[in-house]
Amino acid sequence: MTGGASGIGLALGRAFAEAGCKVMLADVEKDALDAAMASLSGVGPEIRGIVCDVADPVSVDSAAEATFSAFGKVHILCNNAGVGARGGIDHIALDNWRWVLDVNLIGVVNGLRAFLPHMRAHGEGGHIVNTASMAGMVNSRQGFAPYPATKYAVVGMSEGLAMEVKPLGIGVSILCPRFVRTNILESARNRSERYGPTTPADTTNPLYPRLAEQVRTGMDPAEVARRVLAAIRNDELYVFTHPETREAVEERFRAILAAFDRAAAPPLQNRCRRSSNNRSGRNGGSR
Ligand SMILES: NC(=O)c1ccc[n+]([C@@H]2O[C@H](COP(=O)([O-])OP(=O)(O)OC[C@H]3O[C@@H](n4cnc5c(N)ncnc54)[C@H](O)[C@@H]3O)[C@@H](O)[C@H]2O)c1
Repeated sequence: MTGGASGIGLALGRAFAEAGCKVMLADVEKDALDAAMASLSGVGPEIRGIVCDVADPVSVDSAAEATFSAFGKVHILCNNAGVGARGGIDHIALDNWRWVLDVNLIGVVNGLRAFLPHMRAHGEGGHIVNTASMAGMVNSRQGFAPYPATKYAVVGMSEGLAMEVKPLGIGVSILCPRFVRTNILESARNRSERYGPTTPADTTNPLYPRLAEQVRTGMDPAEVARRVLAAIRNDELYVFTHPETREAVEERFRAILAAFDRAAAPPLQNRCRRSSNNRSGRNGGSR
């Protein structure tokens, strides 16, 4: 369980433990990890924690080794750690792009590279949960930021993964919540120095107060965790938690289908020729 020290990851850790699983919480923030471990003490058969930076493949590999030697076989992998950085395309620093891409996208890749060979080798099947977001299904916010770019990528990658691992008896779920009451808006607390100096969050964006309020009053992470457990049991690919976002997805797909309708219309070239013929006809011909 990456990002297991806070928010959705911590709630997932608790829910898995309560369901009888042995759980390894992996997180980059040591103090929060210690607090999370303390909060789960006595829950479930066994909970361990390991400091791990998902953006660093060596760190993820060693977390995987620690998990294998602690528990033997791993059957459920949750690539959940994620961060957000705000800003429009002309405001956001390239270092912030690299940070968000490294954690949200390459972090998932690192998790898969470290655990999938093991899951493939033990041959007992299992389940992989990749945390994306509704921002990976529909980008309803103004502006252009790395967060939705990474979440669309996680959705696309996970859809392909699901097809690849199905014959191995491994299911895949793509978790796409909307607003959940977590510490996501304080993501910069875990931004590594290797991405250069932290620039202050762009709180001048008029959308920010609304976003902060939506997260503050968002869904209880425990509710999200309940949905995830049900999705694993029922082998569901897409896991949505906020039914009210359906309309936005429908609107996006309507626009996509309309574009296909236009593609199915007579080719543009012919249409141009036809309209220029019409014009010639109207004008009585120029040649
Ligand atoms: N909160 C929401 O509204 C919301 C909505 C949709 C999707 N999500 C996604 O849920 C996931 C969990 O976020 P959350 O909302 O619980 O936020 P959170 O900040 O409460 O938890 C994220 C956890 O990830 C850890 N983390 C950050 N960088 C890391 C790194 N490099 N390596 C390992 N761990 C790292 C943090 O220390 C933290 O414990 C993220 O992928 C996020 O994008 C959140």
